[in-house]
Amino acid sequence: MSDAPHTPIAAADVPRHVGIIMDGNGRWAASRGLPRVEGHRRGVETLRRTIRAAGEIGIKFITIFSFSAENWSRPASEVGELMGLLRRFIRNDLAELHKSGVRVRIIGERDELEPDIARLLTEAEELTKGNTNLTLVVAFNYGSRQEIVRGVHRAMKAVAEGRLKADDITADTFSGFLDAPDIPDPDLIIRTSGEQRLSNFLLWQAAYSEFVFVPTFWPDFDRAALEAAIGEFRQRERRFGGLVAKTGS
Ligand code: FPP
Repeated sequence: MSDAPHTPIAAADVPRHVGIIMDGNGRWAASRGLPRVEGHRRGVETLRRTIRAAGEIGIKFITIFSFSAENWSRPASEVGELMGLLRRFIRNDLAELHKSGVRVRIIGERDELEPDIARLLTEAEELTKGNTNLTLVVAFNYGSRQEIVRGVHRAMKAVAEGRLKADDITADTFSGFLDAPDIPDPDLIIRTSGEQRLSNFLLWQAAYSEFVFVPTFWPDFDRAALEAAIGEFRQRERRFGGLVAKTGS
């Protein structure tokens, strides 16, 4: 990340919620003859810088795809390294995030996680729940189809218990059964590394998101790249299915 001073982006032009698919750690490492885990380690540093930059720019919500429900199919050693990185990230960075006014939220399936990881995630949410500067939503053991199915189960339970009528399930009310119902939909989704797909990330929530795909591998992503993505977002005309452009959310 460059240390050059940055011209502030006007608050009205800043997307409220940015989702990020942090892709390309492995290719970054391979292109340097390094083990894949080195790419993930550098990816965590990029994540730290990006959270700081997002707060400074005035983004209010950032959702990061840090471990997908499909990532379990990677070699056990790489899964172990990713779990270790999450543990270290929470142990080392939680106090700093809290001090900076960051609220941490987790989406994804927690029941299958090792108990100490599930505990750390809960601890991060509990400690930071009163913070208001920036909300960091960590998608961990997350898949969007799985989240939607969890939502269907919650809605069915509400109907079975008489708290909801089946006819009252609409797109709006159903959103309330997803993992983080109080978080607004992302205005902008960025995917690094040149791949152009969602890979089971926020499928429901991304209905009206703008997508920006950047060729940079995640470890090389920096504040300038984030600002460039926001610049591209600002050029887009968001109509939400109507005829007249609207400012997001
Ligand atoms: C994609 O790169 C990235 C991931 C699967 C994990 C992202 C994880 C981090 C940035 C670090 C962990 C973060 C926390 C909070 C623990 P890839 O391995 O798919 O890269 P490739 O497509 O080049 O192989």
